[in-house]
Amino acid sequence: MKQITDYLKANEQRFIDELVEYLRYPSVSAQSVHNKDMIACARWLANHGKAIGLKAKVHKTDGHPIVTLATPRRRNSDRPHFLVYGHYDVQPPEPLELWDSPPFDPQIRGRNLYARGASDNKGQHFAHLKAVEAYLKTGTELPCDLTFVVEGEEEVGGEALVDFLKQNKRDLKCDGVVVSDTGMPDLKHPALTYALRGVAALEVRLDGPDRDLHSGIYGGSVENPAMALSKLLAQLIDKNGRITVPGFYDDVAKLSAYERKQMARVPFSETKYKKLLGVKALFGEKGFTPNEHRAARPTFEINGLTSGYQGEGSKTIVPSHASAKITMRLVPHQDATKILRQVARHLKTLCPPTMRMTVELGHVADPYIVAPTGHLAKAALKSLKSAFGHEPVLLREGGSIPIVEHFARILKVDTYLLGLALPDDNLHSPNEKMDLEVFTRGIQMSAHLWTDFAEA
Ligand code: BES
Ligand code: ZN
Repeated sequence: MKQITDYLKANEQRFIDELVEYLRYPSVSAQSVHNKDMIACARWLANHGKAIGLKAKVHKTDGHPIVTLATPRRRNSDRPHFLVYGHYDVQPPEPLELWDSPPFDPQIRGRNLYARGASDNKGQHFAHLKAVEAYLKTGTELPCDLTFVVEGEEEVGGEALVDFLKQNKRDLKCDGVVVSDTGMPDLKHPALTYALRGVAALEVRLDGPDRDLHSGIYGGSVENPAMALSKLLAQLIDKNGRITVPGFYDDVAKLSAYERKQMARVPFSETKYKKLLGVKALFGEKGFTPNEHRAARPTFEINGLTSGYQGEGSKTIVPSHASAKITMRLVPHQDATKILRQVARHLKTLCPPTMRMTVELGHVADPYIVAPTGHLAKAALKSLKSAFGHEPVLLREGGSIPIVEHFARILKVDTYLLGLALPDDNLHSPNEKMDLEVFTRGIQMSAHLWTDFAEA
């Protein structure tokens, strides 16, 4: 390990410079103007892997390409094989005016590297790549075979990787998957995440009059679609923060006393949390704590609400339609497809006779949970401790990584979620960043991991 640690120390600055290069690609999967940037970014990653000594391939898909990088595998070797998953696509950077430096012109301020994708997710999977580089470049034998699978559709709930897993089951047969795409509370609390929420997306639209109408001539005699949609959506959460869709909670696994106790151990200050988010007061389902709300309880969120005139000044109209983009976060053992159908059906029953309703079903991801008690989980905890110098915590997280559940279902393996994002890293927000101390320790953690895994 000494040789590896020395190599990592000696190359620390270069690793950061390379990450900066990677972050320059505006690989925004949601925006088709960036399709070429997606390809360029995938190729950069593949070339980078090749230069380190990995077998690199860019796989075409119906959507954005998938990159695989594999350590040279020996024939008939009985060494364990692990996958490292990541995504090179990033969220749209808008609103641009809220960034202190341009999202794709990475800049270091203090201990942080600012850029869209810095922690979600380029910095996090790049850390693993650099650890493997240290093994390969120092001629240290890796105690296992590794395949990096880096996709370009995570942020849009794309399905290309699901098909890829099904088609490449044999090559991807492995003993476990490592994913760094979650968080850790702070540098003193490295974390192993053992549950993720799922997600179900839909769009609901109400159509009233066949065009925007003069609100003075017609207003009062026809129902206003914006008002109708507001009333309809407002019924979906009651005063206790409970979702009112019939059957919504039927399959929700109850939180055990043990889990609630563990969750209460995760550091949390209400004052700091409110300040971090800039809110006056917190809100949440009655009977649960904020840590439970955001990690282990389902939600119903309006992501976007549109109707009528939104330009400068005023316009006296009854808008012709109103629509809302909605996602729900789901918890074990809710079935995302079933929930989506239930909610769509319920919405239809709430449609007033004055409106025509369309419900468009969107992407789904099932929630994930695994017992963090096996040999490999213990080994991962050990690696975290070696790199960060502190006892790791076990977390449930509220975000979703859709493919993780498919690793379990298709490849029949567990995923070890070793998050390297801090709570103030601004994932999906302006001024996203990666803490470079976390990045460096993340590389060390990964270097330990393969040895600790092999021993387990
Ligand atoms: N890295 C996040 C997921 C995440 C963040 C998990 C923090 C746990 C803690 C990932 O890139 C993400 O944003 N996923 C999307 C998936 C969705 C588009 C299907 C999400 O959770 O919104
Ligand atoms: Zn994300």
